[in-house]
Amino acid sequence: MKKSLVIAIDGPSSSGKGTLAKKIARHFDLPYLNTGALYRLVAFRALEQKIDTNSFESKISDLVKNITEADLEPDELFSEKVGAVASVIAKNPKLRAALFDFQKDFVALGKKEKGGAVLDGRDTTTVICPDADFKFYVTADVEIRAQRRFNQLQTSYDEILAQLKKRDENDLNRSDAPLKIAADAHVIDNGNLSIEEGFQKILQIVKS
Ligand code: DC
Repeated sequence: MKKSLVIAIDGPSSSGKGTLAKKIARHFDLPYLNTGALYRLVAFRALEQKIDTNSFESKISDLVKNITEADLEPDELFSEKVGAVASVIAKNPKLRAALFDFQKDFVALGKKEKGGAVLDGRDTTTVICPDADFKFYVTADVEIRAQRRFNQLQTSYDEILAQLKKRDENDLNRSDAPLKIAADAHVIDNGNLSIEEGFQKILQIVKS
């Protein structure tokens, strides 16, 4: 039987993990899932429906209903506002459990029909794909991440830096599935690498 290839990529916000994951998926012609977009979609739906934090938990099953891959693509999910709400709701264990099957099913279907899958996001190497063939932790100093984000958004650098620090704190310190480096993950310090250099580093490891 042909062996499948599953690659999981974790890392803090704006580390470049998504860009690298997408490039790797394209290179190996594998389906790609940005798991952060799932949390962003739920945050977006909660904002749209004006659901406050007190009633959030009781609305989770509605908020995660009928998610398709196409729902994870709109640009509006990738605003700072939606990201900030996503990082708060992502702490909720019931929400994490409600999104678990979608991610597992994506990997199972990818393995069965497309030869594997590439996933990126905070707990993909530890919770969603602990048995991935390759795990990467893509990181960079928070100032470098803030500068990259600033170059994209051209809003206040100080505000972006403060937001990123807050999001790192949320992601690292939550009790359920916190961001952490899996024991068998390859750490890629992406701070001083171009996209191509980061991509080649990952590629070398997978090909070897
Ligand atoms: O990667 P991102 O910034 O688009 O993710 C949005 C938020 O979702 C982020 O603050 C952390 C959370 N997240 C998570 O908790 N688990 C994942 N697998 C992916 C994202």
